[in-house]
Amino acid sequence: MNGQASVPGDKSVSHRSLMLSALAVGRSEVRGLLEGEDVLATAAAMRAFGATVNRLDAGHYEVYGIGVGGLMPPSAVIEMGNSGTSTRLLMGLIASHNITVRLAGDASLSGRPMGRVITPLEQVGAVVEACEGKYLPLTITGTADPMPLDYTPPMASAQVKSAVMLAGLNTPGHTIVREKTPTRDHTERMLSAMGADVRVVNEDGYRVVTLVGQPELNPINIHVPGDISSAAFLLAAATMVPGSNVKLLGVGINPLRTGIVGALRAMRANISIENERMLGGEPVADIHVVYSPLQSVSEIPIEPSTMIDEFPVLFCAAATAVGSSAFTGLSELRVKESDRIAVMAKGLLANGVHVEELPDGLVVHGQGGLVPGGSTVQTHLDHRIAMSFAVLGQMAETPITIDDASPIQTSFPNFIELMISLGAGLSLG
Ligand code: S3P
Repeated sequence: MNGQASVPGDKSVSHRSLMLSALAVGRSEVRGLLEGEDVLATAAAMRAFGATVNRLDAGHYEVYGIGVGGLMPPSAVIEMGNSGTSTRLLMGLIASHNITVRLAGDASLSGRPMGRVITPLEQVGAVVEACEGKYLPLTITGTADPMPLDYTPPMASAQVKSAVMLAGLNTPGHTIVREKTPTRDHTERMLSAMGADVRVVNEDGYRVVTLVGQPELNPINIHVPGDISSAAFLLAAATMVPGSNVKLLGVGINPLRTGIVGALRAMRANISIENERMLGGEPVADIHVVYSPLQSVSEIPIEPSTMIDEFPVLFCAAATAVGSSAFTGLSELRVKESDRIAVMAKGLLANGVHVEELPDGLVVHGQGGLVPGGSTVQTHLDHRIAMSFAVLGQMAETPITIDDASPIQTSFPNFIELMISLGAGLSLG
């Protein structure tokens, strides 16, 4: 794998840029927006709520906001596709508006737990009727008289934190979220940049975020940084494939997102961060990776929340390392687009890699080089499973087949072309 490339815009920042600019008063511009299916679902939802979202050019959008508190009732069911972020954050927004909204999703999203946002949003005053009490499809009715919450999420989740904060936007008073484990802070950064009063302090071992409700949000001009979660597949591939030398330009390096760099470095990857700068209120850099034989790790010195989406590809990297690696404390992986512990364990075993599945993680016995391969992996509508095995396929003696590559469209539409342009062996069947 050789060459330079830019990865598409950050998915988390893209969602927030559309949602928050749709709540500003006036015209915002977004450049570098990820045009993946998940973000396009958010764009369609914001249009259904009354905002004007126009595509000017590739990744370049203008948004005319409707102001905080301005959501209109949509005329039809809002289709969220595969996107948990759109669903949970929009539920937060809806909770403090006097409107009723029906949300639906694909088979993967319909199996994901929504109780984690329903619980706090009911405390705000919303009423939710969900399938079996916690799944999509669901109907949420927001309240005209929302209560400001002081909430401590029981799990590390930026989606839960953001849902509570977004409910707090149209709520009088102070909405407070206390995080035991800090999670990605794009919502806090963007709201501050738009003029909201967001305070962050460390108190008794918690990261405490306080939002003063009912701000007037100023429009923004935002450049979305490259997505480190997409870059992770290329970083892992370049570190695993002998002879590689790849530079990824303009990648977001928010410290609450860069755990994958630390984890790969702990496995002796050769990664340098160059040309650090700020873009749209977020730190970005060029990431340069040169092949280096990987060593196993007994424990990665990284907080899992800073790389929660990158574990599938890290497991693949560990499969080619020398020695056995244990990854634990990862029960959240079981409620992502698929059960990523079970699905990765099955796919790795089927391709000749010895693994042991734990309730909260995986032990991967590295091959010290090529893996046997030769099997078809079931991706269960999970983009990151598909891309992880496309990466592992670069190190397989016999090709690995992926049952369904279409979910890659949710987050990284040009993944296959980009991998091929850097020299990867990939073909669409
Ligand atoms: C996201 C938060 C994370 C992450 C997801 C995007 C976000 O989910 O896995 O891909 O944009 O807030 P959790 O909040 O469930 O950890």
